[in-house]
Amino acid sequence: MVGENLKLEDLVSSLQKLEYRGYDSAGIAYLQKDHFDVYKRRGKIDVLRNGLKQKLKDSFLVGIAHTRWATHGEPNDVNAHPHMDCRKEIAVVHNGIIENYRELKEFLEQKGHTFSSETDTEVIAHLIEEEFEGDLLDAVLKAVRKLKGAYAIAVVHRSIPDTIVAARKGSPLVVGTGKGVGILASDVTPLLRFTKDVVFLEDGDVMVLRKDRFEIYNVDGVKQSRRVYHVDWDEKSAEKGGYKHFMYKEIMEDPQALVNALVGRIKNDRPFFEELEHYEEFFKNIDRIRVVSCGTSYYAGLVFKYFVENNTDIDVDVEVSSEFRYKRPHVKEGDVLLAISQSGETADTLESVRLAKKHGARIVSIVNVVGSTLDRESDVTLFMNAGPEIGVAATKTYVAELAVLYLLGLKIMEINGYWNKEADEILDRLVRMPELLENVLRKDPQIRELSEKYKDFKHFMYIGRGYGYPTALEGALKLKEITYIHATAYQAGELKHGPIALLDPEFPVFAVMPDDSLFFKTKSNVIESKSRNARVIVLGTEGNRSLEEITSDIIHVPPTHESLYPLMMAPVIQLFAYHIADMKGLDPDKPRNLAKSVTVE
Ligand code: G6P
Repeated sequence: MVGENLKLEDLVSSLQKLEYRGYDSAGIAYLQKDHFDVYKRRGKIDVLRNGLKQKLKDSFLVGIAHTRWATHGEPNDVNAHPHMDCRKEIAVVHNGIIENYRELKEFLEQKGHTFSSETDTEVIAHLIEEEFEGDLLDAVLKAVRKLKGAYAIAVVHRSIPDTIVAARKGSPLVVGTGKGVGILASDVTPLLRFTKDVVFLEDGDVMVLRKDRFEIYNVDGVKQSRRVYHVDWDEKSAEKGGYKHFMYKEIMEDPQALVNALVGRIKNDRPFFEELEHYEEFFKNIDRIRVVSCGTSYYAGLVFKYFVENNTDIDVDVEVSSEFRYKRPHVKEGDVLLAISQSGETADTLESVRLAKKHGARIVSIVNVVGSTLDRESDVTLFMNAGPEIGVAATKTYVAELAVLYLLGLKIMEINGYWNKEADEILDRLVRMPELLENVLRKDPQIRELSEKYKDFKHFMYIGRGYGYPTALEGALKLKEITYIHATAYQAGELKHGPIALLDPEFPVFAVMPDDSLFFKTKSNVIESKSRNARVIVLGTEGNRSLEEITSDIIHVPPTHESLYPLMMAPVIQLFAYHIADMKGLDPDKPRNLAKSVTVE
């Protein structure tokens, strides 16, 4: 941040809005008169804030701050950012990975530089020092030309109190000015207090930011113009809104996220994507769609596979991005690659897209963050419109992803002549789903009771068939990522091929078994589990009496079309995990070892 009347509190509270991006250590550097004060602490930003308690009202001219998710060097005070040069004149914060930092470090050591941390970032500070001849922009331009890898950096110099120079390649950076403040960050959340008009830097951009203006250059120092995006999110919507955790608030926003994803996308009782208007031919007469994504977005992709394959003759291959990117890419000119990523910044997904693009694929992405790298690198982006999601574990964005994917699936049916009565019914039920999701959320007290009953188990087996299988996978993922309880997910029919050996009274089964065409198949698998004395939780459909023959631990959801149960059941698996994490005293918003946007490989 750079500006007038800035207090340290402004810098620290802005940084806190980014905490979800990584939080193993944090630090700030700010200029007072002619020297930098630097504070760095291992731990969450509150540790840093406590250390600065006496100083939060102090003013500063220019300052940078960072919350870290370690890539090089363990999380500790020294490795925390900002990093400085030998003379303590330059301070740098950095997201990403510098791949050639060893070579650069050797080169700089030969020139007499000494390093205090194990990070790749410190190399950047020394490199800029080496290049600095009075002009910071010039020094940063020269330095970034030597960097290999991914970076978003912000650089300040002791002798230039009104300027920040920043650069990006592969890691996000967004900038805005307002209220006498120039601010840049890795996403828009900290900017909203100052402005809603923001500019997303592009790869290769280098920027000079002052309190009331900024200029963007390419690496050759040629001025660039960039589109200004108006972001509608207000600051409040990025805060907890009275809930104990962001995750809880965001689960409660599932119905709203669904509404927002559907709004404006149904016309004349058919799915309609304004964004696709000129690109419908992408999906015409195709026989295959490739999907790449990670984590929860990958499971949303699996639902899409079941949906499209059950309703058309089109094949859908869904692959985890980190695998896709290192294989021979089976895409050819004109193929569609669908990339799903709520952040639009997941490094593996971006690389998969770049690889497919090289082979002539058309890129359609489903993204929540407008202006994110994936958005900008795609031929077409279908936005989720879920609003900011702060909790690390995806919840409402999963719901929004599913909504967009169902609509896209229906659109593909329409384009390729598969539209039928069933499609009418699915669309109709989808439109009526938000209200039903509210009903599901009203079951929260009952889900909480179940969480209480099961919170001390050490293992869980989630099972499901067909559309129930991705729900089982996502349920197990939610549980492991925020409660640290071991959970595994299997297609119910696979139990007998090994996993059933694990089951005993200490290894409960969480059975996803809506009233669909596979209900009786799954039911037999659950009965097999029960005969191994496993306890069973059933997630099923209201009015199905036969569930009570299996267990008394049942959560019912309203009936819907069988393809839509993943959407209907999403809040249940989310709440079950959330309450267990909360009861265990864990912070579900910031699970250990995880980050919201994984912008490194
Ligand atoms: C991280 C998050 C997950 C998310 C995954 C993919 O691992 O913790 O919640 O599902 O990234 O993120 P994306 O932004 O690509 O959907």
